[in-house]
Amino acid sequence: MTIPWKFTLDHQEFAGKRVLVTGGTKGAGEAIVRRLSAAGATVVTTARSATEASSPTLFVQADLSTLAGTETVAAGVMEQLGGIDIIVHSVGGSKSPGGGFAGLTDQLWQDELSLNLLAAVRLDRMLVPLMVEQGSGAIVHISSIQRRLPLHESTIAYAAAKAALSTYSKALSKELGPIGIRVNTVAPGWIHTTASEAMVKRLAAHSGSDEETARQGIMDALGGIPIGRPAWPQEVAELVAFLVSDRASAIHGAEYVIDGGTIPTV
Ligand SMILES: NC(=O)c1ccc[n+]([C@@H]2O[C@H](COP(=O)([O-])OP(=O)(O)OC[C@H]3O[C@@H](n4cnc5c(N)ncnc54)[C@H](OP(=O)(O)O)[C@@H]3O)[C@@H](O)[C@H]2O)c1
Repeated sequence: MTIPWKFTLDHQEFAGKRVLVTGGTKGAGEAIVRRLSAAGATVVTTARSATEASSPTLFVQADLSTLAGTETVAAGVMEQLGGIDIIVHSVGGSKSPGGGFAGLTDQLWQDELSLNLLAAVRLDRMLVPLMVEQGSGAIVHISSIQRRLPLHESTIAYAAAKAALSTYSKALSKELGPIGIRVNTVAPGWIHTTASEAMVKRLAAHSGSDEETARQGIMDALGGIPIGRPAWPQEVAELVAFLVSDRASAIHGAEYVIDGGTIPTV
């Protein structure tokens, strides 16, 4: 599978913009970091483990599921950027085991809410006042189609946390829109990341089938993906880049789904 498009990048579009992308060392977050950096932005990203940055990216190491971690990142943003124009909250994911509702302990619920909801809530509370002071800014919260199409086996708490994130994002947009700060949500379906490809390989090995069959099995579990494939991280990054750009200056308080048609209803 390859990305089915090419375009001409404006290398100056985000020149002078100070950007934070959380969870930007892998998957969709990494693609967003690369996309915004390539278009001239100065980008700080975060993760728990340091990586060898292959793009001119500033980095703060912290666990964003904790209050202390978000404080470290907010302080790092001030130290490395001196202010903020764009925040993309990409950090998120689920670690819960299978087994449905009964297997979800208080701790697992807390973990899913801390990473998928509170990381963004806390960072916004610390950094958005800077945007309010300057009267401008753009924020994107990465949610999931699971907030509308929850799967029950292992991701109930994740889906509920993403639903809360989308609702929070909408409420925030009402408060910040009049001040000149745009807030939107992106809800991806299945994204073709290194982690999801590793899952395909594991499933194929487990069932003794090939990767195409395993990939199709995941799509069937989602009820099908009409375009026949997951989204590339670069495709998610392209949508985010548009939403935080001035080209999207009237788009506010909206949720953009990028799922190849997975959600079956209007
Ligand atoms: N992948 C999908 O199919 C899919 C579908 C719908 C929605 N989404 C959403 O899209 C976003 C990106 O997902 P992805 O699958 O592309 O991500 P990913 O490949 O799993 O990468 C996650 C990133 O976040 C960092 N991270 C994870 N836990 C962290 C923590 N506690 N503190 C700080 N950093 C942490 C990781 O680095 P370290 O591990 O080093 O910390 C990494 O940089 C998430 O919000 C996810 O919920 C993904």
